[in-house]
Amino acid sequence: MAPSVSEAGPVAPLPTKAGPESQSTARYQSIARNHIAPALGRLRDHVFTSGRGLRVETSDGRSLLDFTAGIGVTSLGHCHPAVTEAIVKQASAIVHVQCAIALSEPYTDLVEQLVGMMPSPSLDSFFFWNSGSEANEAAIKIARAHTRRNNIVVMQGAYHGRTSGAAALTRSKTSFFARSGPLMPCVFTTAFPYWHALGVPASTPEDELVRLAVHQLEQTLQQQSAPEDTAAIFIEPVLGEGGYVPAPASFMRALRGVCDRHGILLVADEVQTGFGRTGRTFAVEHSGVTPDVMVFAKGFANGMPLSGVVTRRDIMASMPAGSLGGTYSGNAVACAAALATTRYMQRHDVLANVNARSAQLFAGLRTLQSELPDVIVDVRGAGLMVALEFTQPGTNKLVQDACYDRGLVVLTTSIYPVLRFIPALVVDEAEMAEALAIIRQSVLAVVAAAI
Ligand SMILES: Cc1ncc(COP(=O)(O)O)c(C=O)c1O
Repeated sequence: MAPSVSEAGPVAPLPTKAGPESQSTARYQSIARNHIAPALGRLRDHVFTSGRGLRVETSDGRSLLDFTAGIGVTSLGHCHPAVTEAIVKQASAIVHVQCAIALSEPYTDLVEQLVGMMPSPSLDSFFFWNSGSEANEAAIKIARAHTRRNNIVVMQGAYHGRTSGAAALTRSKTSFFARSGPLMPCVFTTAFPYWHALGVPASTPEDELVRLAVHQLEQTLQQQSAPEDTAAIFIEPVLGEGGYVPAPASFMRALRGVCDRHGILLVADEVQTGFGRTGRTFAVEHSGVTPDVMVFAKGFANGMPLSGVVTRRDIMASMPAGSLGGTYSGNAVACAAALATTRYMQRHDVLANVNARSAQLFAGLRTLQSELPDVIVDVRGAGLMVALEFTQPGTNKLVQDACYDRGLVVLTTSIYPVLRFIPALVVDEAEMAEALAIIRQSVLAVVAAAI
């Protein structure tokens, strides 16, 4: 019987490893080299054997500070006691309740909980799936079925997933779909208000970026995808894989206006930004814009595979019975984990911590930028979704390696030299200070080596 853990209980220490660590690491690496799809790609061939809070332990005995949270997934930290307890409890009751056969208790409780968390009460009809890509597939179907139109407009630099429909909407890197076309047709691209997308200097003021991007959208709707053929505009309120660029509130409002004028659905992909990541429950709240459809996943269930789509009841009603579903859709254990995660977030004011730690992170990175203006061109993001953009290609990867050597795991992103920080939302002040010290040492070491 697994030990019971209380919701607010202390984080247990990492178990200590026994046995010949180097041998098991070599064995894992050999299995990976010979039998795991190389198409996966990996930061390095290491194995995480356990995790608690912000720390992970590797099979070769290293303890690392994790500023990736599994790409924004383990928002309450690894093995959070409240989530572990909910998983254990549900796994002992019933693991799999197929959604076309019956509902499960955590499924319905979760829906009830989410109704109260949405940015607008109009978003009140839910469908759960397993991954962000799948949830975007569902959003495509819903938008097309409701509007009876085919075309989708997406942002330059967007990432919506790797399944065929979601990959067709993706514009952040060709490696996500190269050699696997033809992808779903009827997808058109417009500029995100980011200087690279518009080909203007990094110093271009925000209102000018928005003006240029809105102009491009108007052209897209006049020259590529007629409004009467356009089902939806998809946007990540903070461009994720495309470089951690927040969409200005005025751009979100302009999109809302365009969609309202033409009967186009505004779809917010909150897969990475949702559930507190940007300092609000959902990133659309920063602009006050209510999307017609919202897609979420990642931080929702603290590591269990669960995603969702929410929309208005009248829009969801456009989908005939049986047109949405899936064997594992809304798995009971995953729903129990999401219920525990979202309840914990509400009861413990996790957002206050996100905003305090975000201010600490921004302050540290901006100090570094002011010391190295020729090396760091931008510090940006929202909440605990923050990035540094370097001036020189490759610097992000060198700094990432230097951070790893000093015990901090961070990720790169984008086709530009961007390094991103997405720690668990419960990161504390000391952990943030430790990370900032490592980032600083690493950037300075890379700069010194280049001289
Ligand atoms: C904004 C966004 N949409 C969709 C996805 C795809 O989600 P998944 O990897 O769960 O399929 C991601 C994943 O990183 C994402 O960041």
